[in-house]
Amino acid sequence: MKRTTLLALFIALTLPILPAQTLRTLYSPGNLAKVSIGLNKTGEPFYKIEYRGKTAVDWSRMGLMAKEYDLKDGFKLLSAKKTEHRGSWKPVWGEVARIPDNYNELAYSLQDEGGRLMIIRFRAYDEGVGFRYEFPEQGAVDTVHITDELSEFQMTGDHTAWWIPGDYDSNEHVYTTCAISEIDCKHYDKEQAINTKHIVKMKNVQTPITMKMEDGTHITLAEAGLVDFSAMHLETDTKNLKFKAFLIPSADSTVKSVNTEPFRTPWRAVLLSKDATGILASKLILNLNEPCQIKDVSWIKPQKYVGVWWEMHVGKATWDYEATQDMMSATGRAVQGKHGATTENVKRYIDFAAKYGFDGVLVEGWNEGWKDWFGHWKDEVFNFTKPYPDYDIDELSRYAKEKGVRIIMHHETSSAVPSYERQMNDAYAYMNKYGMNSVKTGYVGKIIPRGKWHDGQWMANHFLHVAERTAANRIMVDMHESVRPSGLHRTWPNWMACEAARGQEFNAWSSGNPPEHECILPFTRILGGPMDYTPGIFEVRMSTYDPKKAEVVHTTVAKQLALYVTLYSPLQMAADLPENYEKRLDVFQFIRDVPVDWEDTRILNAEVGDYITTARRQKGAENWFVGSITDENPRDFSISLDFLPAGKTYEATVYADGPDAHWKDNPYPVTIRKQTVRKGDVMNLKLAAGGGCAISLIANQ
Ligand code: NOJ
Ligand code: CA
Repeated sequence: MKRTTLLALFIALTLPILPAQTLRTLYSPGNLAKVSIGLNKTGEPFYKIEYRGKTAVDWSRMGLMAKEYDLKDGFKLLSAKKTEHRGSWKPVWGEVARIPDNYNELAYSLQDEGGRLMIIRFRAYDEGVGFRYEFPEQGAVDTVHITDELSEFQMTGDHTAWWIPGDYDSNEHVYTTCAISEIDCKHYDKEQAINTKHIVKMKNVQTPITMKMEDGTHITLAEAGLVDFSAMHLETDTKNLKFKAFLIPSADSTVKSVNTEPFRTPWRAVLLSKDATGILASKLILNLNEPCQIKDVSWIKPQKYVGVWWEMHVGKATWDYEATQDMMSATGRAVQGKHGATTENVKRYIDFAAKYGFDGVLVEGWNEGWKDWFGHWKDEVFNFTKPYPDYDIDELSRYAKEKGVRIIMHHETSSAVPSYERQMNDAYAYMNKYGMNSVKTGYVGKIIPRGKWHDGQWMANHFLHVAERTAANRIMVDMHESVRPSGLHRTWPNWMACEAARGQEFNAWSSGNPPEHECILPFTRILGGPMDYTPGIFEVRMSTYDPKKAEVVHTTVAKQLALYVTLYSPLQMAADLPENYEKRLDVFQFIRDVPVDWEDTRILNAEVGDYITTARRQKGAENWFVGSITDENPRDFSISLDFLPAGKTYEATVYADGPDAHWKDNPYPVTIRKQTVRKGDVMNLKLAAGGGCAISLIANQ
C-alpha cells in the first residue's frame, strides 16, 4: 500500500464517531464547500469540511479552555440556525472595484453542563469556510482568561506546505517548503539577521499556511479579523497530519487572551481552491471582516512613494544624526557616518518625486532618538515631535507643498510601546500641523512592557488602536514589524499596508530573500493584507556601495518591475536611490506608469513557490498591466490577452529580461519593446532564472 493510503487509513481509524441527532450540514451557495458539525458521545464539538466532493478537513475537534471553566465537552445542542447572505461591496481601494460576498451561515448554539453558552458560527463560501466562537453575556463570570484554543485542522494526507516558524516576535523569515510530516523549525536557529526572534516550539508554524494536496487542490489555514485576541499560530502534529490552534501567550504563559463577555474570537479561515490561482484570487479573509468603520473615506488615497531609506540600508547614510553607531554597526557592519535626513538631501528626494510623479517622500531618521535605539530594550528613546537640528521641518513642509508632494512621517518606536502611546496624540497633531497624512510605524526590538510579544493580544490591540487613532486624525498608516494582517483593512481602510514579513531590506544586509520568496508571499502572508515590500531595486549588487559586500538582490531588474503587479499593495515604494533611477529612465518608466489601485485582477497562471503571472486593470481606466515572475528557474509563458475588451487596440510596452539575464550572474539587462495588441493576441514571455516580465497595455483612444 502507498504511504499516503496508509496514512489516510490511519487517520480514518482515529476519527471520532458522532451520533446523528446533533449532526448538521451547511453548503456554500454554489455547493462547492460543505461543512458538517456534530457532538460526539461526551458532548465534544467536531467539524469536517468537504470541497468539490472530497474531504479537505476531516473530523476535527473544536473548543476553548479558560481558567474559569473549560469549553471542551459536556455540550448539548440548543439550536442550529441557518441564514444566508447574498451581496457585494466596494472596497475603498483594492485589487478589484467590487467584491462579491455570498455565503450561508450556521449558528450552532451549545450549552455545557455548567450552563455556559457557546455559539460556533460557521460561514460557507464557494471559496472556503470560516468559523468562530461567540460568548454572549451570561452573568457569574464575566472576565475569561483563555488558556488554550482546541480548534484542530485534520488534514487528509501529507500535503506539501509552505510555512514560516511560529515565532512570537517576528514574521521576517524565509519560507520552508516540505511535507506536513517533516515540519520542524530547528533550522531557523541559524538565522542571524532577525534581531528579535522568539521561537519556542519547534513544530509551530504561523498562519496563513498554504498547502497543496496530491490532486492539486490548495488549502490555506488563516485567520480573519484579529480583534482583542492573540494571533493564531498552529501546532503541527507531524504524525497524525493535524494542526491545532496555538494562541500567543504573554509573560504569564498559561494565559493567552483575556476577554470580557460578550466577546467572540477572530475567524478561523480555511481557503480552498482547485488550483493555486484560486487562492490568489480569494476574497474570503476580507469578506469575513466587518465593513468599513470610517464614514468619510475621501482622504484615503493609494500612493507611490520614494524615500530616504535604502541609502541607510545599503550603508551609505545613517539614521542617527550623531552617527557613531546605529543599526548597521549593531548588525556587524561599519557605517560611514553621514546623516541621511538632512534638509538638503530630503529636498533632493522631493524634487525627484515631483519630477517623476510620485505622491510621497518617506523620511527616516528625522527625529531625536536614533543614538541608542537598537538592541537596548529601553523605554523613552524616541521623541516624535522633535526633529534633529539639520532637519528643517518648517522649510521642508513648505517646499513639499510647493512641489505638490507629501512627506511621509516615520515613527520608529523601537517597540517602546507605552512611550509611543503617551506621545501618539501629540505626534499625530504635529503631522496634521505640517500637512502630513501618512505615517510608517516600526517595532524593531523586544516589546516594552516586558513579557509581551509582537503577536500577542496586547500588541494586536495596540496595532488596532494605532489604526483607529490615525483614522481619527485622517492619517494613513503603514506598520512595520506588526502582527501580520488579517483583513482588518476592510474595516479600517486607512491601514494601507504592513510589512510583517521578510521584505526587500533583507537583500541589503543579510543572506537575503531567495528567488522563490516573492512567489510564496502572495500565497501566505499577503492573503491577510497588503505588504510594504518596497520593490524597485535597480542597483542589485551591494558591492557597488562597498567592495567588501557580498549581498545581492536575488532577482533580475525586470523582476523588480514585475513585483509592482504581482505583489499587490495600495502603497508601493520605488525603493532605490534617485541616482540609480536616473541612470535607467527608460526602465524606470514602468514604475512611473504602474497604478496602485485596480478595477479588476486576473491571475493568468501561478504555482506556489514557482511562478505568478497577474494582469490588472487600472481603477477607472482601460489600461492593463501585467507582471510575471519566476523563482530560480527560467520559464517561458504564452499569455493570451483574452482579458482585453473586444474592438480596442492597445500600445504594449514589454520590459523583459535581456539576453542571458540571470539573477546571479547577469541581473541588469532589460529589453524594452513596443507592439500594438488586441483581445485574443498571444504574447510570449521569456523569464530568466530569478527573472520577470512587466507589461503596460495602454488603451488607444
Ligand atoms: C525596520 C523596517 O522594516 C525598515 O523599513 C526601517 O527602515 C527600519 N526598521 C528602521 O526603522
Ligand atoms: Ca522590518
